[in-house]
Amino acid sequence: MSEAVTPTTTTPTVFDPTAEAAEKALCFRGIWAWLVLILLIGLAVFAVMWLLRKFIQGPVYRKKNRIDGKVVIVTGCNTGIGKETVLELARRGAKIYMACRDPARCEAARIEIIDRTQNQQLFNRSLDLGSLESVRNFVARFKAEETRLDLLVNNAGIMACPRSLTADGYEQQFGVNHLGHFLLTNLLLDRLKQASPSRIVVVSSAAHLFGRINREDLMSERKYGKFFGAYSQSKLANILFTLKLSKLLQGSGVTVNCCHPGVVRTELNRHFVAPGWVKSCIQTLALYFMKSPQAGAQTSLRLALDPSLEGSSGDYYSDSMRFPLVPWARNMETADWLWRESEKLVGLPPIEPQNGGVQQNGNVTGNGTRPVAGGAGGGGGGESIETVVVDRTSS
Ligand SMILES: NC(=O)c1ccc[n+]([C@@H]2O[C@H](COP(=O)([O-])OP(=O)(O)OC[C@H]3O[C@@H](n4cnc5c(N)ncnc54)[C@H](OP(=O)(O)O)[C@@H]3O)[C@@H](O)[C@H]2O)c1
Repeated sequence: MSEAVTPTTTTPTVFDPTAEAAEKALCFRGIWAWLVLILLIGLAVFAVMWLLRKFIQGPVYRKKNRIDGKVVIVTGCNTGIGKETVLELARRGAKIYMACRDPARCEAARIEIIDRTQNQQLFNRSLDLGSLESVRNFVARFKAEETRLDLLVNNAGIMACPRSLTADGYEQQFGVNHLGHFLLTNLLLDRLKQASPSRIVVVSSAAHLFGRINREDLMSERKYGKFFGAYSQSKLANILFTLKLSKLLQGSGVTVNCCHPGVVRTELNRHFVAPGWVKSCIQTLALYFMKSPQAGAQTSLRLALDPSLEGSSGDYYSDSMRFPLVPWARNMETADWLWRESEKLVGLPPIEPQNGGVQQNGNVTGNGTRPVAGGAGGGGGGESIETVVVDRTSS
């Protein structure tokens, strides 16, 4: 028996104007709902990016205190963080000696800063931290011009260059970043004490975290690591130098602090080798993910200017905040060793007599005006006594 086939009936579509209008209205609302959602997501992304960028740039030094007429030296200030540091100090009325290795670039920066600040008290001075003789000549000229120094900013630096030697035969990064500044600071201590209360700011780096003071191979002769070896060691040396110096200067009214400026878009990576397109990508990303040089100068500026830091010494700052140091960056035995070794390398007499009778009430004492000439790498031949004598008596 065959089953009866029931014919399928299709109901004819009846045009319903109300349903059509409701459907259109729903569609319309749907588009707007999507647009609003997209807009909200866009705004949220923008807000997060803005906050992230603010966070990356770090805090700004906002106190308005001026330092009219204060005598300042900033090393390596024709570009980057140093130039921005000088710009802000010039706005606040300082008399600034710009210590740079390239006089032409220094002059261009000096004129630009004078134009922007109307501060005429800016001076172009030659200083090559890779030559101990140049350091001594710089100091001799400065001392002939000024009897006081209120602020010294040890900013200049090089990073991850191929292995080369300074004029005195020392590994370039250790020589420029640490030894040059070590000699400069020591030779200027009398002028700093003269201006007490005065300050020293040392620009180090978070790269010190990867650093070790390699006592057996300080000049990286046996093994040279551009960044994790020599650069990190030199930046760790900056910190150990700060700690030791702050102890030696206790009670003198001269303070010394060091800092990491952040990851900053400057010329510091000039020795970075990579294909052109990689460099372009990094440069584009750097616009967003790195600090501007102006933002990079803020921690140095706080250390240089903030009245609330008067008297505080021997500390490490990043993003304008004080940070504790890892054990190998606060090892005083290493700091003592490095200090003694550095004295020998730059040809300074020991600040601490070997018999140990060094400090009285925490003040720096020492052997007065012993000539420095004749030490290893001293480069002191033919200089006037003024240029080679360290007055290390407490004042
Ligand atoms: N940028 C960062 O992300 C970063 C991070 C951590 C720490 N730092 C530290 O910040 C400091 C400033 O670096 P920057 O980023 O502003 O770099 P930069 O733009 O390369 O500036 C470095 C300055 O140091 C000068 N300099 C180099 N060798 C010198 C020498 N032998 N004698 C005298 N001056 C010398 C340079 O002069 P020329 O122009 O003539 O070479 C330049 O003026 C450095 O100590 C660096 O280690 C930077």
